[in-house]
Amino acid sequence: MASFVSIALVMLLIVCTSAQGYGQAQLYINGAITCQGSSGCRNFGTPSNPALSCQHVKDVCPEAASDFYYIESAGLYRKVFCEMEIEGGGWARYGRSNQTAIWNYVDEDATEITLDIIDTSEVKEMIDLNYNHFLVQTDVVFKMQADDSINPSRLTTRSIPWLVDTPLFIPEYGQDHTRPTSIIEFPSGSVDRVTCIPGGTSKCGQGGGLPPANGISKSFFFQSLFFSPRGTGASALIGQWRRNRYTWNGSYYYVYAK
Ligand SMILES: *[C@@H]1O[C@H](CO)[C@@H](O)[C@H](O)[C@H]1NC(C)=O
Ligand SMILES: *[C@@H]1O[C@H](CO)[C@@H](O)[C@H](O)[C@H]1NC(C)=O
Repeated sequence: MASFVSIALVMLLIVCTSAQGYGQAQLYINGAITCQGSSGCRNFGTPSNPALSCQHVKDVCPEAASDFYYIESAGLYRKVFCEMEIEGGGWARYGRSNQTAIWNYVDEDATEITLDIIDTSEVKEMIDLNYNHFLVQTDVVFKMQADDSINPSRLTTRSIPWLVDTPLFIPEYGQDHTRPTSIIEFPSGSVDRVTCIPGGTSKCGQGGGLPPANGISKSFFFQSLFFSPRGTGASALIGQWRRNRYTWNGSYYYVYAK
């Protein structure tokens, strides 16, 4: 048996080597045996030869570039963008880019919008594929505030790594008697958490998924955002709507998963 296997491997090596015309053949055994090296990798992650995941592409072809690949796993067959450079590579990329024309709300106190960042189907896919490592990257500047006001804005987040659906909002009457007022925003150097900056008497730490004053939340990514500083249920002290505000300005928001 042992000699049969080694003969088979030698034969495969010969086939791989001659098919490529040079000696870079390696073996990858994963249910199937695949010839690879430069020319083998050219065919890996293609429609007829899908990989199991972006990490699978990276494992088989360490030199693979960031690009679209086909993956087939857990009953799912699709084209996915694999990020191969950052943090060891092998990441499936979700999210949006090129949003400059749309994501340009700076200190808004009037516009009501719903922004989908990661589609529900994409979240389902992350769950189905058992991803448990996540990385968030964005150039978005994010802030949300309510000052002696009711701001019914509501952000849908997914906890990392368990992807639990967790709302984030400023509880009724985000009280603050000073300016600048209490704000939730990304803390310095991080985009997968928020901090709650208190003004005077603030609602930081009092529900809504808000961390304590100047504290930092657990890790999550945004799935969708509903900004409604003047919408149904909103109110502002003595009609000062600028007490209810948000900023969402940037061009991309990516969640990398593996
Ligand atoms: C970016 O968005 C603009 C305007 O919506 C569009 O014309 C352009 O083709 C987009 N570019 C890419 C790379 O998607
Ligand atoms: C919004 O973000 C874009 C880059 O994404 C930047 O060029 C622009 O200056 C920002 N707007 C404001 C008012 O900060």
